[in-house]
Amino acid sequence: MEKLRHMMNPLDFSVEELEELFDLAGDIEKDLPGYAHKCDGKILATCFYEPSTRTRLSFETAMIRLGGQVIGFADANSSSAAKGESVADTIRVISCFADICAMRHPKEGAPMVAASKSTIPVINAGDGGHQHPTQTLTDLLTIRSLYGSLKNFTIGLCGDLKFGRTVHSLINALSRYEGIRFIFISPKELKVPDYITEMLRQKNIPYEEVIKLEEVMPQLDFLYMTRVQKERFFNEEDYIRLRNFYILDKEKMALAKENMFILHPLPRVNEISVEIDDDPRAAYFKQVQYGMYVRMALILTLLGIK
Ligand code: NCD
Repeated sequence: MEKLRHMMNPLDFSVEELEELFDLAGDIEKDLPGYAHKCDGKILATCFYEPSTRTRLSFETAMIRLGGQVIGFADANSSSAAKGESVADTIRVISCFADICAMRHPKEGAPMVAASKSTIPVINAGDGGHQHPTQTLTDLLTIRSLYGSLKNFTIGLCGDLKFGRTVHSLINALSRYEGIRFIFISPKELKVPDYITEMLRQKNIPYEEVIKLEEVMPQLDFLYMTRVQKERFFNEEDYIRLRNFYILDKEKMALAKENMFILHPLPRVNEISVEIDDDPRAAYFKQVQYGMYVRMALILTLLGIK
């Protein structure tokens, strides 16, 4: 039997293993019908203790497209967590029912606790403000597909860099590739956490922190926009003051390179004006599609199915 593997952090896979995963996702994209029965008889459990549309449905669609089936809950209140059951006990129970589990939790580290007690692979589908590895796999696959490689570009990350777990996960993952330059664009209240800039300094990876998006726009190959994470704010007033700090519109896009791509993990609130959606540089809906392919590839890999 293969060793039990989980996906808690994008760094759980080596760069070479990620390459294999992305190649597999690429194959799936080209030949969906060829993968339609790879998971016949397998069950995915989605345990979501925090709201989600994309991530949960993307996991579920991924499993269904592989021929498997899905069980789970989309809301902690409809699970035994409402009766006080621990994550450790819930995963022991889920391990008796399903072959693989995707878990989202508002508490940082909860999926790791689950993984330590689980007898099936557990995928972290987002833990608090910490990590969101499958969004990162989605982002990396999108960049690789649009740009042709994961090396030598300047990426601007804009918005809520303090609470945005997709941002933390992506910077972490990109820090292993050559020639990446980061530009962090945020109000001073929402700057990227110190542990991240410290990691970049230690690895000698160039980064800049700015407040004005317009100032750096012409330098970017990718612009990763993010929503201000309302649910992680301590007070409503701060949220209201900061929520519309950045709104990407045609005027700002006129400053960008012709081949710059806009990414966004979604959901979007106001930070990208809908007038941009038809711009060929807007890649955020395409990104959703890559998310499904990469989750299909991850399910196959963790289940050890060739
Ligand atoms: C992100 C998340 O949940 O962190 N959404 C997603 O999974 N695509 C981003 C967000 O909620 O802003």
